[in-house]
Amino acid sequence: PAFSEDIAAILALKEKRNAVILAHNYQTPEIFHCVADVTGDSLALARKAQEVEADVIVMAGVAFMAETAKLLNPSKTVLLPSVEAGCSLADSITAADVRLMRARYPGVPVVTYVNTSADVKAESDICCTSGNARQVIESLGVDEVIMIPDEFLAQNVAKETGVKIITWKGHCEVHERFTPEEIRQWRAAWPGLVVLAHPECPPEVVAEADFSGSTAGMSEFVASGKAGRVLLVTECSMSDNLAVEHPEVEFVRPCNLCPHMKHITLSAIRKSLEQMEVEVTVDPSVADRARLSIERMLAV
Ligand code: 13P
Ligand code: SF4
Repeated sequence: PAFSEDIAAILALKEKRNAVILAHNYQTPEIFHCVADVTGDSLALARKAQEVEADVIVMAGVAFMAETAKLLNPSKTVLLPSVEAGCSLADSITAADVRLMRARYPGVPVVTYVNTSADVKAESDICCTSGNARQVIESLGVDEVIMIPDEFLAQNVAKETGVKIITWKGHCEVHERFTPEEIRQWRAAWPGLVVLAHPECPPEVVAEADFSGSTAGMSEFVASGKAGRVLLVTECSMSDNLAVEHPEVEFVRPCNLCPHMKHITLSAIRKSLEQMEVEVTVDPSVADRARLSIERMLAV
C-alpha cells in the first residue's frame, strides 16, 4: 500500500512537471517497472537523455548519470533524487590525476569510463561504457591508450584487444567483492548454471563466467532464452528486474548491493518531483570539453 501511494503520486507529478524518469538497471523493481519511462544501461540512458523532449529529467541512477544527461541535454532541468547517490569509481580519480597521467604518458589518448565526474571527462579524449569499451578503444587507431578509472574493466578489455592499455586503480565497490571461489561453489551447487559477469568484476571472476557484458548485454543474453538457470554476477536489483520479465528463467540470487543506487527510492523520487530537487548542473568551465568526450563516444 505504501508503494502504491507513492507510485500514484509520482505518476501525477510527472504530468504536472512534464517530467520523464530514466532508470538504470540497478534500480529496484518498483522504480524500474512502475514509474520509469526509460530503463537501460549507462549507454542507453545517455542516448535516451539526449532525445528527451520533456522539461524535466529525473535520473533514477547515480550522480555521473545525471551529469551526463545534463551535458547531453543542457536546456532540461535534471534532478537527482539523492545527493548521496555517488559511485566509488567516480570518486577514485580527479581531473588533476588525469593531467598527471597525461604528463607521464605524453601523447597517449585518454579513454574514460562514463563512471566519472564531468571534470574528469573534460580532461579526456573520449568516453566509453562497459557496453562499448572495446569499440571505442579500437576506433582511435592507436597502439596504446590510457583507460581510466576502472582497473578491472581495463584489464578485461585488454584481453579482447591488441591495443596496450595503461590502467588506473579505481574499482567498483560492488563488483570487486565477487571472487572466483564463490562462482565455482555456485556452479557446484546449481547444475546447469549459466554465469553472466559484469566486466567491472576482477578478471579472475570474469574468467569463471560463461558471458561477460554490460547490464544491457546481460539482459539481452537472458532474453535470448539461451539459459534456463542463470547467475548474474552483479548488483542485486538486476536479477529482481529481469525475473519479473522472465518468469521462465530461474535466477540464482547471490549478489552485492550498490549503496549509492539504493539511495534512490520511490519516496525520494516523489520528494524530488514535489520540491524540484536536487537540480544537477555542470560548471560551464568544464561542460563543453566534457560534452565533447561523451559525444565522441556516441559517434563511434
Ligand atoms: P552498465 O549498466 O553500463 O553496465 O554499468 C554498470 C554500472 O555499474 C553502472 O553504475
Ligand atoms: Fe558505481 Fe559500482 Fe555502484 Fe555502479 S554499481 S554506481 S559502478 S559503485
